Amino acid sequence: MNKSPNSLLEIRDSLLLAMDHAEKQVSEMTPKWPAGSPAPIYTVDGKWFRQKNVWTDWTPGFYAGMMWMLFESTGKQGWRDRAIEFSLPLEERKFDRDVHDLGFIFMSTYKRWHDLLEPGPERDKVASVLVTAGNTQSLRWKETGEDHYIFSFNGPQSLFIDIMMNIRVLFWAYRHSGNENLYNRAITHARTTRKYIVRDDGAAIHEGIFNPIRGEFRNLSTQQGYSPWTCWSRGLAWAIYGFHDTFLYTGEKEFLETAELCAQYYFDHPTEDGVPYWDYGAPNIPEEEKDSSAAAVIASAFLSMAETVPEKSDLYLDAAAKILNSLTTPGYLTVDMEGHEGILTQGVYHKPMGWGVNESVMWGEYFFLEAVHKALGLLRSAP
Ligand code: GLY
Repeated sequence: MNKSPNSLLEIRDSLLLAMDHAEKQVSEMTPKWPAGSPAPIYTVDGKWFRQKNVWTDWTPGFYAGMMWMLFESTGKQGWRDRAIEFSLPLEERKFDRDVHDLGFIFMSTYKRWHDLLEPGPERDKVASVLVTAGNTQSLRWKETGEDHYIFSFNGPQSLFIDIMMNIRVLFWAYRHSGNENLYNRAITHARTTRKYIVRDDGAAIHEGIFNPIRGEFRNLSTQQGYSPWTCWSRGLAWAIYGFHDTFLYTGEKEFLETAELCAQYYFDHPTEDGVPYWDYGAPNIPEEEKDSSAAAVIASAFLSMAETVPEKSDLYLDAAAKILNSLTTPGYLTVDMEGHEGILTQGVYHKPMGWGVNESVMWGEYFFLEAVHKALGLLRSAP
């Protein structure tokens, strides 16, 4: 970091308040949603909720992951113990071939656990869970036609933008096992994603559909966005974060360029408080809902990009500070909302289905906490 993060300094007190609030909310949540039981995904009227038949169970790692961050942030042994207690039941998901979400689940838990351990048998065991998860995730491989990728839970015809976050577990597993097949699949996936579902103006589209028999690209699509022709804001967030991490794992400039292209889309379509609407093309803006979770993911990515691209560190730090300034304000932060069980509200899970709209969402909580944790870390290490 070649500049002191002045804009973050101005919001230091708000960041500290947010961290305290997060600790309180997660503390109160754990007895109601204990380890080993299915975890909630979003709130309904401010109370944590889990549908009976979940569409896909992609978020329990974020719940346990917050406990790892609370341990990292507070140093309290109780958080480490709880983080382990809530992470262990997730281990069986390392064999789950039905979803494309193993990066979400394991990079937020076992990767954090691994990074806190000294070399030894415990670290080896944790690493082996990540390596197995990476191998399992790599098996959802669409190999017909010329363009290959890790396919979504919808089937081999479907490429999702959020899988950019999940190929991180393939890269991690490659580094720790030397299995080049994992690296090759992850990097190929990233190139196919860039080619078909990131537009040249930086917009990220949720889904690409390929011919299920011959494998060639057919059309753009969406599940959670407004349309195949509009930029779903959380998809944009996953693209910025995922392509940046892909650059960190590969050193290939094309991925940093893609992360920056998507970041530029964010800058080219500003909102007053830095928090995007749930889809950039939603028809009734400014009457549409914001998605605070997209903003949280983008803030966290920007804090890392400020280090990767030192000549633009002010741009990314200022943008992250602007988002965090907004998200730590009552209205987004639930601090003044008596009885609200979340940390951050005004998130959106699935607007077309009406799930978790204008509510707390588990990944929004996680990436908000990650961004706050990173920002406080930068402030501590600033000259
Ligand atoms: N399933 C990923 C997302 O909702 O962003």
